[in-house]
Amino acid sequence: METNNNSVVKTSTPMELEVGEDISLWWPTPIYDRVLEGWKDVNLELISIIMEKKENDAGIQRSNIGGWHSDEQFFAWKNPAVEQVRRWVKAAFKEVTLLTTNGSGFSGQGNLLGWVNVSEMGDYNNVHIHPNCVWSGVYYVEVGTPSDKRPFSGQIYFLDPRSGSGYQIAPFNVFGNCKSIKPQNGQMLMFPSWLQHGVRPYDGEGERISIAFNILLPNPGMAASMPVVT
Ligand SMILES: [Fe+2]
Repeated sequence: METNNNSVVKTSTPMELEVGEDISLWWPTPIYDRVLEGWKDVNLELISIIMEKKENDAGIQRSNIGGWHSDEQFFAWKNPAVEQVRRWVKAAFKEVTLLTTNGSGFSGQGNLLGWVNVSEMGDYNNVHIHPNCVWSGVYYVEVGTPSDKRPFSGQIYFLDPRSGSGYQIAPFNVFGNCKSIKPQNGQMLMFPSWLQHGVRPYDGEGERISIAFNILLPNPGMAASMPVVT
């Protein structure tokens, strides 16, 4: 078991299950994970505009411990590279929505909020979720140069969302483990906003730059079904 500052997490254990005729898997959690084509030129442009913005903006405080966190209006920045990231997010959203609606998809309006995280040595993000959102994600602009001595440096990690899944039921429990991803430049992850996640302390040379985002969708039935509170 490994302790990560404010949280106790387990390292990932490979889970290999033979699913037979009488065994099914319940409660899967979809994680979109793709290195996007053409990321190099886009990221060069992003680094340039992010560094310029950071020089003139104090940023805000969210789950980040240290580092620079921009406001949530990244997608309002007028720049072709920003527009490309928006197209990538929309394509990923379409894909995961088709997957999770049995092919129905979603055709209405939603909101997309995005922000930049710039981390230096020792900076990290506490475990958190993104309330009131549907899908959340991250795009990696520059993962920096993590130290070989710290294999988990700058990794994003996800906690098993099933309550009580860490309870020991066998000598080697495959449930309740933490899943970590070592990010690479140009990679995009998207996951349900309720999934708890954090970022381990960055221990390396240079800056680690990522763009995080939330997708919010209206619930058309909500207004009509809400009782009037007086
Ligand atoms: Fe997050």
